[in-house]
Amino acid sequence: MNKMLEEVVSIEFNRQIGKDTCLLGFRSASLASLAKPGQFLMIHSGRETKDPLLRRPFSIHRIQDRNKLMMLYRIVGKGTSLLSALKENDPISVIGPLGNGFALPRPNEPSLVMAGGMGIAPLFFLTQVLKRVQKHKIKMFLGFPTSQEAVLIDQLKDLNIDLSLTTEDGSLGIKGLVTDLLDQYLGQELTNKPVIYACGPTPMLKKIAQKAIKSRLRCYVSLEGYMACGLGLCQGCAVKAANNKGKPYYYVCQDGPVFSAEMIDWEVM
Ligand SMILES: Cc1cc2nc3c(=O)[nH]c(=O)nc-3n(C[C@H](O)[C@H](O)[C@H](O)COP(=O)(O)OP(=O)(O)OC[C@H]3O[C@@H](n4cnc5c(N)ncnc54)[C@H](O)[C@@H]3O)c2cc1C
Ligand code: FES
Repeated sequence: MNKMLEEVVSIEFNRQIGKDTCLLGFRSASLASLAKPGQFLMIHSGRETKDPLLRRPFSIHRIQDRNKLMMLYRIVGKGTSLLSALKENDPISVIGPLGNGFALPRPNEPSLVMAGGMGIAPLFFLTQVLKRVQKHKIKMFLGFPTSQEAVLIDQLKDLNIDLSLTTEDGSLGIKGLVTDLLDQYLGQELTNKPVIYACGPTPMLKKIAQKAIKSRLRCYVSLEGYMACGLGLCQGCAVKAANNKGKPYYYVCQDGPVFSAEMIDWEVM
């Protein structure tokens, strides 16, 4: 099991950067030194809680200066509303880093990063790391429902990656779904087969995983489904495994949240 810490940290900033979307930063050199792209933190928006069910899971979105961690989150309910009301210097209780994280590409294997909406949260950190370890230019397909939900476009452009943007209503970038870009991409003659990294809504991940399996591409998806305790205690995050040779179910908090596409039974997702 990976090393895990429980810390109370002070918020350095917590600001709205888009419609119902916030960026929160805090310092912790110890958490930053352990964190890998794809891992997550369980956060409680108070000084501390002994009740794991009161915490919420958030991906590690970015690491800066070796000691600053950032989280990108959308306000969807009670926990995220409480979080969004916190100000500079307010304490939050953090457990992590949790989960497995993304496997990095093989030498000479280009990366295709596919993000839908808040799926960009863990994939930004992954892209930061890929930039350091890869010689190929990183390709990213990023989709939002409309331009109103779009965030971080300038920061991603600053990473100097090959970025293609879609919105469902065509208000920004190409009109359509991010998965439409995958169809076009796979229709081309590919000299080097890419490894795909994806995070976003389950229907998007299902489509990507099924196409990757069919095209015999390595593909890693980060599942962000329901999670209560995040620590392997409640079994609330079970997903059905693709075959029953090994485990019948995986627990997203312990076996994931990143899975190789062929590990999951996508028919029941
Ligand atoms: C490993 C992991 C990493 C995550 N990383 C991020 C992240 O980086 N940024 C981010 O914004 N969110 C992330 N999430 C989702 C985030 O944890 C939930 O949005 C959050 O817990 C909602 O808490 P709440 O109290 O505000 O909402 P609740 O009051 O618990 O729920 C409000 C509404 O949102 C729905 N909902 C709750 N959780 C989810 C979910 N996981 N998926 C879809 N619908 C949900 C509920 O059904 C309900 O309708 C992640 C989830 C997991 C499992
Ligand atoms: S969230 Fe409780 S076991 Fe995974």
